[in-house]
Amino acid sequence: MKINIKPEKYAYYTFPKMAALVTVANKDRPNIITLAWHSPLSFNPPLYGISMDPKRYSHNLIMDSKEFVVNFAPFSIVEKLHYCGRHSGRNVDKFRETGLTPIPAEKVNAPLIKECYSHLECRLAETKKYGDHTLFVGEVVNVAADENAFDKILKNVLPVYYLGENTYTTINNGVIRKF
Ligand SMILES: Cc1cc2nc3c(=O)[nH]c(=O)nc-3n(C[C@H](O)[C@H](O)[C@H](O)COP(=O)(O)O)c2cc1C
Repeated sequence: MKINIKPEKYAYYTFPKMAALVTVANKDRPNIITLAWHSPLSFNPPLYGISMDPKRYSHNLIMDSKEFVVNFAPFSIVEKLHYCGRHSGRNVDKFRETGLTPIPAEKVNAPLIKECYSHLECRLAETKKYGDHTLFVGEVVNVAADENAFDKILKNVLPVYYLGENTYTTINNGVIRKF
């Protein structure tokens, strides 16, 4: 039997969503925000979309710097990822508080997070408000990845999936099926 849910609650029924750490440059200190609402949009040109509530401190940082990096985290740092999603860069230095390490990106001023396994360096291509969120569309100008993390498919890494309600899971590399 199916139950019907109020449309406003739809997002809970899309879980699990992969959680990513988005880094943004800032003249004082770079910031990190945890996002579950993000998606590839186009191969050519290479476009990636992130959806952000305008109340987030990172929102204005992206409007100002017009750049961001989408960093994919291994499950071993899930506690730090959760911290970045529950504290604002208005009040804390998230790199300092989590001990995550900023390293320079190739093409943008926003840093990569060393402990993450893959990184999309994006230049802001378009900004559009959809309801209560802003869709930032980034053109991917460089991709960096740990050399052992991918062998065409993701290998040797447990990624972070958000289940809602402050709960996370990962996938087990043992149950991959290739067709
Ligand atoms: C797992 C998780 C996923 C989140 N996904 C989003 C998201 O997709 N969009 C968004 O605007 N906020 C999202 N948030 C909330 C922000 O990460 C949170 O408000 C953060 O403290 C904002 O940081 P800032 O003020 O330094 O930018 C998420 C939080 C968590 C814990």
